[in-house]
Amino acid sequence: MAAIAETVADALEPLTIVQVYEGVDYGKKGEDFTVAFSRFRLPGKVDDLAKKIIEKFQADDWVESVTHDRAFLHLKCRTATLNRLILHEIHALTYPGYGANSICEGKRVVIEYSSPNIAKSFHVGHLRSTIVGAWDVHSLNWLTGARRFGSSVRWDVSSTDIAAQFGLIAVGFEKYGSQEALEQNTIQHPLEIYVKVNADAEKDPTVREQAAAWFKRMEDGDEEALRNWRVWRELSIKTYAEGYARLNAHFDEYTGESMVGPQTMEAAVNKLQEMGLIEEDNGALRVNLEKYELGKAVIRKRDGTSIYLTRDVGAAIERYDKYKFNKMMYVVSTQQDLHLQQFFKVLSLMGYDWADRLEHVNYGLVLGMSTRRSTVVFLDDIIRDAATEKYKAVEDPEKVALEIGITGVKIQDMAAKRCVPTFPHFCSHVLTRRYRYAHVRLSSIERKNPELLPLPAPSQLNLDTLVEPQAREIVLLLGSYPDVVKTALKNHEPSGIVTFAFRLSHAISSAWETVIVKGEQDKEKAKARMAPYLAARDVLGAVLRLLNIKPLDRM
Ligand code: ARG
Repeated sequence: MAAIAETVADALEPLTIVQVYEGVDYGKKGEDFTVAFSRFRLPGKVDDLAKKIIEKFQADDWVESVTHDRAFLHLKCRTATLNRLILHEIHALTYPGYGANSICEGKRVVIEYSSPNIAKSFHVGHLRSTIVGAWDVHSLNWLTGARRFGSSVRWDVSSTDIAAQFGLIAVGFEKYGSQEALEQNTIQHPLEIYVKVNADAEKDPTVREQAAAWFKRMEDGDEEALRNWRVWRELSIKTYAEGYARLNAHFDEYTGESMVGPQTMEAAVNKLQEMGLIEEDNGALRVNLEKYELGKAVIRKRDGTSIYLTRDVGAAIERYDKYKFNKMMYVVSTQQDLHLQQFFKVLSLMGYDWADRLEHVNYGLVLGMSTRRSTVVFLDDIIRDAATEKYKAVEDPEKVALEIGITGVKIQDMAAKRCVPTFPHFCSHVLTRRYRYAHVRLSSIERKNPELLPLPAPSQLNLDTLVEPQAREIVLLLGSYPDVVKTALKNHEPSGIVTFAFRLSHAISSAWETVIVKGEQDKEKAKARMAPYLAARDVLGAVLRLLNIKPLDRM
């Protein structure tokens, strides 16, 4: 596409290649590329413009034909060139070179994703964030609801409902809890205790007093009172990590609200005050963001405690100090759009020039979800539902069923655009069966045709024999892969990659009947035919890894 844009820009000076690129796309039917030149809003007659461009496209090694249709130009490439160059490139760059792009090379990107609330349960929304955010970068998991206790700076300790929850659970633990149950079901057990002790508190007001007293002890740094909380936190992280591992998600760092330095938050509030950005409201402090249509954001509560926003401001400052990131992304649901805009704005008002490096990668709600389940239970449910299909002829059917189940969950989730609300648990096997089958079958092609191996590099093959339109379709699609990756990266939108995987698998399944390798008497031809399949196998494998899915070779 870039080459086309270059030629068109040459014809339509002073348009730049970048401007032209916007109007170049893959063709819909039968044509390889389309140039929508009406988009450039140039003066002059359409016909004249078209003529000017066509003149530049001499039929050459690349271009077979250019046709003009109203405001569009359609281009068709020479099959032989297409095959030769694209197959060569895939072969030469191998995994992970082909399709990889270097936009982020040498840059430091921090991505915060998943970020469950440890005082509540992991839910489908967090699952979505886990799936959407799983990239190969420095990944942060920001556990909320886990404050720092035992600090001498008073305002770090908050009296929000979450803090009260800790106190209540601690009191309830003495009555209903067991260390064994806690170790077995780290997240579910405290939740159960919480439900019970809450019911007690409804009847007996002294329960809340006990909880407050317990919490005060934590506040004061009483080791004994803190111990359970620490154990709980450690165990929670362990449990999360196990659940994440099953999703093939790994974090470089587990951090959380409790890790933000009180001094950092204190300093931030002081700075805002000095800058005259703070107004008082009945003892509470807030930043007026009405000018930016972001309302008024409370930054310190009446009782002197910090809130969610304060901790995010503090955490961002500390993370910048630590990582000097070029970009930091927050993969958080659209429900928190306002919150993220507010704290990004606060940081930019404070004069941090890196504030524009923060980006909210938001995703749609997960509808109809239950928040009463723990990570483990929740994942187990999904996997059990997803892994109901039986697979024979594999060494480890359970493992394969599990892998396939999880793949289903991931594909299902990423097939929809990020901001589109999804439904949990709606695991579609139809969605995943096609690509699975395609990859497995592609992987077997070498095994089934040992006499053609080792297959020479594409430049050594007689690709002129590769004339079937189905083969051409595969190659053309493979050629578009780097652009697909670029677009997905630009929009933080994995759905384009999923769509590509489906189109490619479809093209592959249409080819099996006509582009036949096994049994082809002409060995030259058989070898040439094998090349696009192997390239497709490599690219499909790369696509799946990019989606954080393990490709299967057999099933
Ligand atoms: N734990 C929060 C929740 O479950 C999401 C945290 C988002 N990240 C942040 N830095 N505010 O809703």
